[in-house]
Amino acid sequence: MAFQIHSLGGYLHEYQKSVADPEGFWEDIASTFFWRKRWDKVLDWNFEGPDVKWFINGKLNITENIFERRLYTHGDQTAIIWEPNDPKEPSTRITYKELYEKVCNFANVLLNNGVKKGDRVAIYMPMIPEAAIAMLACARIGAVHSVVFAGFSATSLADRINDAGVNTVLTTDGAYRGAKPLSIKPIVDEALEKCSSVNKVIVFKRTSEEVQMKNGRDVWWHEETAKVSSENKAEVMDSEDMLFILYTSGSTGKPKGVVHTTGGYMVYSSYTFRNVFQYEDGDVFWCTADVGWITGHSYIVYGPLLSGATVVMFEGIPTYPDAGRFWQVIDKHKVNQFYTAPTAIRSLQAFGNDFITPYDLSSLKLLGSVGEPINEEAWRWYHTFIGKGRVPIVDTWWQTETGGILISPIAGVTPTKPAFATLPLPGVQPIIVDAEGKELKGNGVEGNLCIKFPWPSMLRTTYGDHERCRQTYFSTYKNLYFTGDGVKRDEDGYYRILGRVDDVINVSGHRLGTAEIENAINEHTLVIESAVVGYPHDIKGQGIYAYVICEDLAKNQRTEKVLVNEIIETVSKIIGPIAKPDKIMLVSGLPKTRSGKIMRRILRKIAEGDGSNLGDTTTLLNPEIVDEIKVKAGL
Ligand code: PRX
Repeated sequence: MAFQIHSLGGYLHEYQKSVADPEGFWEDIASTFFWRKRWDKVLDWNFEGPDVKWFINGKLNITENIFERRLYTHGDQTAIIWEPNDPKEPSTRITYKELYEKVCNFANVLLNNGVKKGDRVAIYMPMIPEAAIAMLACARIGAVHSVVFAGFSATSLADRINDAGVNTVLTTDGAYRGAKPLSIKPIVDEALEKCSSVNKVIVFKRTSEEVQMKNGRDVWWHEETAKVSSENKAEVMDSEDMLFILYTSGSTGKPKGVVHTTGGYMVYSSYTFRNVFQYEDGDVFWCTADVGWITGHSYIVYGPLLSGATVVMFEGIPTYPDAGRFWQVIDKHKVNQFYTAPTAIRSLQAFGNDFITPYDLSSLKLLGSVGEPINEEAWRWYHTFIGKGRVPIVDTWWQTETGGILISPIAGVTPTKPAFATLPLPGVQPIIVDAEGKELKGNGVEGNLCIKFPWPSMLRTTYGDHERCRQTYFSTYKNLYFTGDGVKRDEDGYYRILGRVDDVINVSGHRLGTAEIENAINEHTLVIESAVVGYPHDIKGQGIYAYVICEDLAKNQRTEKVLVNEIIETVSKIIGPIAKPDKIMLVSGLPKTRSGKIMRRILRKIAEGDGSNLGDTTTLLNPEIVDEIKVKAGL
């Protein structure tokens, strides 16, 4: 590949070029793609609006860059190896040519069902190839996909559908994940009771469980695909046309719809895929993320398929039928690059190495980590027992908003260091600032991580609310994109991500706003007020700790245990099981400042099991409450 970096010198050279002449740098890379019309100008930007545009007036279709660009040379190559949940069910292989036909066919289904360019389509599906086909079919006709992780509740799904004004939902009857099948369609039905904009639901049959089909609204995927051909002419899109919306949590309010556009996202997801993972033609790449998250978008679907790669898509979970499943799949499909989350690594480490021994992992050339800080112990275990001390680990730092990896080693090319994301990729200009926004120059510094220059796949807006985008990312520090992460640059100039500095917590690599969880807890009729903080958790990275003030229990015929369970159920119902609190403490008050602000710092310390360094509590409105909480926490 023209833009693949192969040496440390090459990296340094490319990096310098990308900073000295960002436009020339990205123009060279963008030129390797297929454009219906070349751009007039590479970049226009300001971070005040913000207003960022890449490859201005360029016309293209991203799926033509996956398919038409390569069909002559790559048509018979495997695009997707699908590994089902049940190891006894055969895996399937889909070539680029077959995938192309399926995508075109489903694009015609969408058109036939009234979906038009610019319409928003929600995808609420498990990890089956049809989820990728659905995304690509939307891109083919210029519809904007909004994939919602199929573990989210009906309420969460409804909120996302309503925010984006979705008119079509793509889903399945059920799903297989682990030991028992899960219902999917009934969740969609429940969500749609609250969504007036949706007029079509297309249902793929996966489990064949019986589901209700609403007349005039719900149709079967297999019946619809049989009605239309597999030939489809791609819609010509503008470089800055929306490609997808993906909802993510922040420190305030409901999740926001991060908007990614076509041209820049295409260039950056493909560039980073090729480089970070050093993918060579013929390799088998496996990213274990769900397509419901940005990692699945960029490194299962777009980045790899744009690069003509063979990807493994896995329907199941790491511990079914046992904790050796990942290693069995690596052995079975001779996986070369394996990309997963620290939570999975830590939990599999806890199961012990006997689950690894039966499998041959010698095909591996690289291991990757994403989604949360990886602690040194997990890094070393991964390196020693999975990589056999032989293969590099890329600890890749990025976000839903960044669209692709920003800080990471380039496998085998730039140095690695346990628990460090190390160096920015070419085109990425990080800057560390203190609380006042003053740049902390040089090495051996710690502060807030910002980016000072645009990169092609950065978010353009938050759907329907540009001001929220400005406020959240571009108003904290003038002319900088603020990531929300704390970071350290060590004496060697390597970056280590320290975790969020805002009210966002990262539970098993899933990003959740504490306010969002509090709002869900407060939905319980007996809850008066709540405060949620994160605390260190051995497996999940961070756990969820909720302090809750509630009505009189005896009067309401509840024991503490019953109420706690009800609260957990409420959160699960409103957000989804991933947001269930790990610990709930019922308290009679919350520590507050005189202006009524909850002192989360104190609650965080107590949740960490540290009752000593709470600072001056005498200025609080209710200092006595701190002692009560400490006693309850056993401190
Ligand atoms: O805190 C950082 C953490 O995950 C956040 C982004 O979450 P999300 O948008 O859900 O995307 C996750 C997958 C890209 C970041 O603000 N994070 C992500 N990768 C790393 C990380 N923290 C430390 N090290 C990483 N490699």
